[in-house]
Amino acid sequence: MLNIPLALTYDDVLLVPKKSEITSRQDVDTSTKLSRNLKLKIPIISANMDTVTESRMAIAMAKKGGIGIIHRFSDIEAQVKEVIKVKRHQHLVIDNPFTISATATLGELKEKIITTGTSGFLVADVNNLLLGIISRRDIDFATDDLTTVAELMTPKEKLITANPDVSPEEVKRLFRLNKIEKIPLVDDNFHIKGLITQKDVLIYGNNREAAKDLRGRLLVGAAIGAGGDYLERAKALIDAEVDALVIDIAHGHSLNELQAIYKIKELYPQIELIGGNIATAAGALDLIKAGVDGLKVGIGPGSICTTRITTGFGVPQLTAIFNIAPVCERYQVPLIADGGVKQPADVVKALAAGADCVMIGGQFAGTEESPGPVITYRGRQYKISRGMASLTAALSRPNAKENFKEITPEGIEARVPYRGSVDNIINQFIGGLKSGMSYGNAKTIDELRDCQFIRITDAGRTESGSHDNEVL
Ligand code: XMP
Repeated sequence: MLNIPLALTYDDVLLVPKKSEITSRQDVDTSTKLSRNLKLKIPIISANMDTVTESRMAIAMAKKGGIGIIHRFSDIEAQVKEVIKVKRHQHLVIDNPFTISATATLGELKEKIITTGTSGFLVADVNNLLLGIISRRDIDFATDDLTTVAELMTPKEKLITANPDVSPEEVKRLFRLNKIEKIPLVDDNFHIKGLITQKDVLIYGNNREAAKDLRGRLLVGAAIGAGGDYLERAKALIDAEVDALVIDIAHGHSLNELQAIYKIKELYPQIELIGGNIATAAGALDLIKAGVDGLKVGIGPGSICTTRITTGFGVPQLTAIFNIAPVCERYQVPLIADGGVKQPADVVKALAAGADCVMIGGQFAGTEESPGPVITYRGRQYKISRGMASLTAALSRPNAKENFKEITPEGIEARVPYRGSVDNIINQFIGGLKSGMSYGNAKTIDELRDCQFIRITDAGRTESGSHDNEVL
């Protein structure tokens, strides 16, 4: 019994300030990795919970430089739709632009403008070869509905086109020099490969802090299970061009999950696959060897979790991160600290302990962007946050009602104060992180790991919060 080790969590420790050479919080770089090949600009991820992340939250997260993981507690089609909404929200390249044939009439073109809601079309032949462009400007003064598109279009000889792998910088240069609105992307034989519009380039340029893929679309992840329809779900999500899959099961260090990792990596070796949840170095090693590209760490620290109370198992979150970080470092697999973040300092501590990013649920559940309505109770506004293993979440799954008596919840349902846009909360977290990095003389998240932790007592904890006054 005397050998029972002590395990710590965020509130048990503080970081010791260092002499700082950082003169401005703007000088620190908060970029990090979600998984082996996915970069983020801020180390914050919204949790794959049905009261936290659907497309609205994922769009807001990616626009701030983080990422949202769409939960899996809906049918496959609904989850895929959420992923598509994020991927379509903004883009640099339109992959399959609308086309019209050169022999179509002005009347047909007008009809197409109404049905598609688009005013400009690439003119293509049956082999999808570019023949020209027709836009509203070309038809403004045309009166005869029988005139053909060929007569009205700007022919390809007069167009500025580009290769499909043109860089965003070159695209900007072309728009600036030529004062045009659209650039068709074509291969050497003039086959249409995409379209870039000036409007999309402006959005792309104005949104520098966003986490984007190579085509300027926002990053998004999605959760799957390790049984049932998980392979069908994984395929549908990959077809929808999701950027990362997260295997979301309560006890990730299990045969079920290891088999799921092997299977998914065998079928889709290119997908960024995040495994979890785990809380031990042995778990990390097994999942990494099975093939994961990222690891989600946290058994029971979450705001709505009761796993530790129900089962007696779990590891306080800071110790879990400390134990797993060296394994992740050795294999260059990013560590996501999932659950238990209550305030900005917890993010700083998680990163200093070795995490690459943090996943947040409860703190985001009360925001405008989380799913579900705002409810009013005794004059105050709230939203619902619930554990994905809570009774109501379990009951909402197919066939649950018949097995009602067998459900042992490992999570709760809660009312959380409505807090407006998630932007404000992320700003607070990132403000705290940047300030923390300056206290630790860390220009990067990597340098934050050189900071020294100290354990504190109850008295130290009391001293850390506001005290000896009446909070207004
Ligand atoms: P926070 O503290 O940010 O934690 O709200 C979010 C994380 O909690 C986990 N989660 C659960 N854990 N029972 C659990 O033991 C549950 O019902 C449950 N639902 C969510 C999950 O890892 C999430 O990201």
